[in-house]
Amino acid sequence: MTAIAEPSDLTELVHSATQRFARSDTPADLENAKAQFLGKAGRVTELMKGLGQLGIDEKKSRGAAINQAKQAIEAALNARRQALQDAELAQQLQAEALDVSLPGRARGMGGLHPISRAWERIEQVFASMGFDVADGPEIESDWFNFTALNNPPNHPARSMQDTFYVDLNDEQGQPYCLRTHTSPMQIRYATAHAKKHAAALARGEMSEIRVIAPGRTYRVDNDATHSPMFHQVEGLWLGENVSFKDLKVTYLNFCKAFFETDELSLRFRPSYFPFTEPSAEIDIQFSSGPLAGKWLEVSGSGQVHPQVVRNMGLDPERFIGFAFGSGIDRLAMLRYGVNDLRLFFEGDIRFLSQFR
Ligand code: PHE
Repeated sequence: MTAIAEPSDLTELVHSATQRFARSDTPADLENAKAQFLGKAGRVTELMKGLGQLGIDEKKSRGAAINQAKQAIEAALNARRQALQDAELAQQLQAEALDVSLPGRARGMGGLHPISRAWERIEQVFASMGFDVADGPEIESDWFNFTALNNPPNHPARSMQDTFYVDLNDEQGQPYCLRTHTSPMQIRYATAHAKKHAAALARGEMSEIRVIAPGRTYRVDNDATHSPMFHQVEGLWLGENVSFKDLKVTYLNFCKAFFETDELSLRFRPSYFPFTEPSAEIDIQFSSGPLAGKWLEVSGSGQVHPQVVRNMGLDPERFIGFAFGSGIDRLAMLRYGVNDLRLFFEGDIRFLSQFR
């Protein structure tokens, strides 16, 4: 572009246009300002009109100078337009901004109930020792809950296990009940597998039943250490020569794994159950930790009674072994240091959240 000496009136015009534009802070006002300079009656247009009175040479140089001033004004206008647009965008971004520095609203983390945790742990430990895990009904017939377990109608031992009855009779005319223990699972599981085991024995092969059955059980009982609904885990190991020694080793190893300590001993205390002979309570004692020095009862147990083995459809001369029934809630209380069983069943989040 050839530099053209700019008369001072034009310099002044460009300057005042630029200033006027700078004062416009809305697009509408900027359009008004534009009209004042570049519109039909604007100041640049007026100057153009004045060219007619000039001579040819003067018209040429004056015209070029006015044009240059006009371009400068247009450039100032465009710059201002852009500035206003940028400002509007910036304001919009600001208004719609998300404060990503706000801490998030975290969802409360759930967790397994302590009984479920103990239950899963028990399954894991026994599965690692080769035990199958079985499951059965909570509404049980008189046969499975009592009679098959050598506990016939009117036997005094029935009163050890007062329970809830369902208004429905089985084929023998006996009412169904809520099972008082998981021991009926001994009969159910062994019966279901009896044929297979008998056939294996007939072929001269070694055959064993090794199972645990955890689940809910019910009795008419309610205090700090008894709840009308509670949990037991049944254990059954029948084989050619499974003895009390195997019970002791199995149960002690289970306790060491479950409580994660070797500082533990176990004793049998003579007891009575109709379905085992001899029968024993299993007590354990920790030699360190908060429970050290006290014998704690954790399970009933015994050698499975020959009549019960017969009721399973198995030969008591060939299938000898032990059963035990332990309170899962009791094991959970000892493991987690809970002193009142009812805490497990009240659903108080302050208690439960300690086990997450
Ligand atoms: N079923 C018994 C109870 O609930 C416990 C037990 C199971 C005892 C197996 C011996 C053998 O008290």
